[in-house]
Amino acid sequence: MSEPFAAPAARSLGPVILLGVPGAGKGTQAQRIVAHYGIPQISTGDIFRAAADTPQGRELAQYMERGELVPDRLVCAILAPRLQQPDCRQGFILDGFPRTVPQADWLLTFLAEHRMSGARGPIVVYLTVGYNDLYRRLAGRRTCPKCGRIYNDFSQPPQRPGLCDLDGAELVQRRDDDPAVIRERLISYEERTLPLIEHLRRRSCFHQIYGADPVARVTENVFWALESCRDGAA
Ligand code: AP5
Repeated sequence: MSEPFAAPAARSLGPVILLGVPGAGKGTQAQRIVAHYGIPQISTGDIFRAAADTPQGRELAQYMERGELVPDRLVCAILAPRLQQPDCRQGFILDGFPRTVPQADWLLTFLAEHRMSGARGPIVVYLTVGYNDLYRRLAGRRTCPKCGRIYNDFSQPPQRPGLCDLDGAELVQRRDDDPAVIRERLISYEERTLPLIEHLRRRSCFHQIYGADPVARVTENVFWALESCRDGAA
């Protein structure tokens, strides 16, 4: 006899792709999905920043500090071994990948070849935010170097100025959150990433969510989208 209500944890979430312009809230929402579903967040930007002291990391930083995209071949080569780690078996959240049509095609092929697509293919959540909000979001962003928690001086300040609520570490500002670099990142997004939206809309379980609502409301809508797409949902 089949169970009328399967427990949520018993069903796989599969791959989740978070799309959105820089500052749309991908990292913020990814941290909430991790806490709720217990699957890993795979942020290409975080992986590249964590490699900063290696020769490859220094090569990557040259692109990032100019606000340019890292070449596709390099990104895919770095990502492939990460996706094959055991913690990805029940699903994972891609934050900042794919960012170009070739990256998306590589990913869809990789997932199919490794039987990681899930029954319905990846779930894509596209967060939309008006450009007027973005400078304030990016220029006001502060991150904890120890635990990675994201704050914002304007919308989500820490309880004690400049210090992480969770571990007291001194918050830092990303080097690419400089106004001149922000401008270049937005140009890269328009030229290289926007065409990806329509490409993925046709090939996945796709949800567009308004990202300018308060964080908790956005999270509610993201969870609703994930539940409506996950394996076994009607
Ligand atoms: P990456 O690190 O991925 O940065 P990004 O895509 O530019 O996105 P961000 O991290 O800036 O923004 P987010 O959407 O995560 O917003 P967040 O949640 O932090 O990439 C950096 C660089 O690495 C790229 O420029 C490129 O060079 C390279 N790179 C990475 N991946 C690559 C790839 N696949 N291919 C090629 N190159 C690649 O939120 C922003 C702020 O807003 C925070 O302060 C937050 O507190 C606040 N906030 C969030 N939600 C809300 C809300 N609802 N209301 C009010 N404030 C909010």
